[in-house]
Amino acid sequence: MVEWIDPNRMHLDLGKDSYDIVFGKDLNSTVADELEELKLNTHRPVILTDSNLIRLGLPQALQATLEEKGHAPIILDFPAGERSKNWQRAGDLLEQLADHGCGRDTVLIAFGGGVVGDMSGFIAATYTRGIPYIQIPTTVLSQADSSIGGKTGVDLRRAKNAAGAFKQPARVYVDISLLKTLPYREYVSGMAEHIKHGIIQDPSLFDFLEANRYRILERDLEALLEMSKRSLQIKGRVVEIDPHEKGLRRILNLGHTAGHAIESASGYERLHGECVSTGIPIALRIARDTIGFPAEDVQRVTRLLNQYGLPVTTPNSISDDEIIRITLLDKKAKGGKARYCLPKAIGQMHEFNGEYATPVPEEIVRAALLESR
Ligand code: GLY
Repeated sequence: MVEWIDPNRMHLDLGKDSYDIVFGKDLNSTVADELEELKLNTHRPVILTDSNLIRLGLPQALQATLEEKGHAPIILDFPAGERSKNWQRAGDLLEQLADHGCGRDTVLIAFGGGVVGDMSGFIAATYTRGIPYIQIPTTVLSQADSSIGGKTGVDLRRAKNAAGAFKQPARVYVDISLLKTLPYREYVSGMAEHIKHGIIQDPSLFDFLEANRYRILERDLEALLEMSKRSLQIKGRVVEIDPHEKGLRRILNLGHTAGHAIESASGYERLHGECVSTGIPIALRIARDTIGFPAEDVQRVTRLLNQYGLPVTTPNSISDDEIIRITLLDKKAKGGKARYCLPKAIGQMHEFNGEYATPVPEEIVRAALLESR
């Protein structure tokens, strides 16, 4: 069971892969102090980051703090953006680790958003057949979702996240002060994952996100801290029960079946969180029409997504046919049918034949898409 060791430290029990998630503000010194405590061989910490963060000087600040505490970190960076999350870039970074003489006594520090985190985990899983890595997520999206749970990988030409491994981090630092400099659109986009956590398991988190939306949009650090702790408690519990996504972990895919299709059809013009936000009301309408999800809650959720400035309509430039075609390539599709994660109510997911993915007749998907225009 997820356990709070102190008010800012949550422990995820994953057997030999267990780790802590540390919450707070300005955590660079904490990271430096805990490198020893983690008993990682810290001969050579490598901070892996992207060009945007380098421009802001944030990885350099972490490097300076680590140096003050006696470590000798190096920084490796690559161009920011999803296009960098590929096989070639990962290979180049692996070569750079070798060029720097890194061995198994290296700890990788993933300092960035989802792309940096996913790439770092993948590199950590493969370099010398495995080195430890630490996640310091710097975006709302990566703090809410991708830094927790050990999903790592790169995109292939035809499919997002299609090559990778499960590799849990040694520790995660959710430093909410890093969100202060995040561009507005990116900030808001990650809120879709927090709202998703409320819908799948915790009506009181959903209430909190409704009641505190102004504080959260103004980036009030206390509100962000509270939101992150509640939200990651949900994700942590799900990952503990089903770390390899054999069953329950699928509930984290609410909004992702249509959302991923829209993301891919838009040529990644829409951000991941924006597509999840577009996909959630589609899934809820399907749930309303098939398993009785309350119609008033479809409106309630759509209103909240809207209040956070998130998109809830499908772009007219993308046809229903295209969305349906792509959903058939989704990893949950089975027997030529797209399957959706559907809630019965806010806080309760629907189980179908022991799985959290339900096949849906095409005409019902088409009706939900029409309503989303
Ligand atoms: N992002 C969904 C998961 O971690 O399973």
